[in-house]
Amino acid sequence: MDERRPLAEDSLTAISDLEALRAYIGDCQRCPLARTRTTLVFGVGDPHARLMFIGEAPGRNEDLQGEPFVGAAGQLLDELLASIGLVRSQVYIANVLKCRPPGNRDPLPEEIESCTPFLAEQVRLIDPVVIATLGNFATKYILATERGITGLRGRLFRIDGRLVMPIFHPAAALYSPDKREVLFEDFARLRRVLERTPETAAVVGSSTAGPAVEGADEECASESRHGPSVEQQTLF
Ligand code: URA
Repeated sequence: MDERRPLAEDSLTAISDLEALRAYIGDCQRCPLARTRTTLVFGVGDPHARLMFIGEAPGRNEDLQGEPFVGAAGQLLDELLASIGLVRSQVYIANVLKCRPPGNRDPLPEEIESCTPFLAEQVRLIDPVVIATLGNFATKYILATERGITGLRGRLFRIDGRLVMPIFHPAAALYSPDKREVLFEDFARLRRVLERTPETAAVVGSSTAGPAVEGADEECASESRHGPSVEQQTLF
């Protein structure tokens, strides 16, 4: 089954903003995580952000506070944002899953299938120009790939008019100085992409800049001449 399917047409017509989507989700009982969660973690930030981050799933702190990335990984995310002159209220942050898997285990395929139609709706409503996927689960979902984050991080993809950059999950960098350094480098690239990218996703989608498929090194080399060049895929 396609994990990225949108919500049914009849539901969509009623949902025109994030508040309506949150209300639609309600006290979600659609998967067994409802029984073990404390709080459903919907997402936070600017409802019209140009840059959206997608993480994996709430952890213990997020489950208690109802906000994504408020624990140690969140502190690093705040540092990374600050390194490119941003604060979290200027971006939007959500997760593949809205409820904490017990013991922070990996999300199960059926949980992803049940929950991601709401993430797809958040992407549609926020309409970000750039999506940064944090770690394997968000990257696999958004790029519809089985490839791992290590080979994809720092590269740029165009997905239905949006630019998508996979990045290491901040939690993976907490005890790895090497990954931490790579994360700061990838955020610097994210800033360059934002600076050189038109205001809206529609404009990005109609851009003909750059060849369809390029490697990361060539992308960086050609950014200044053509705007960010990307690898193309299709989403939603
Ligand atoms: N890790 C995530 O992927 N998301 C959160 O919200 C917190 C930690």
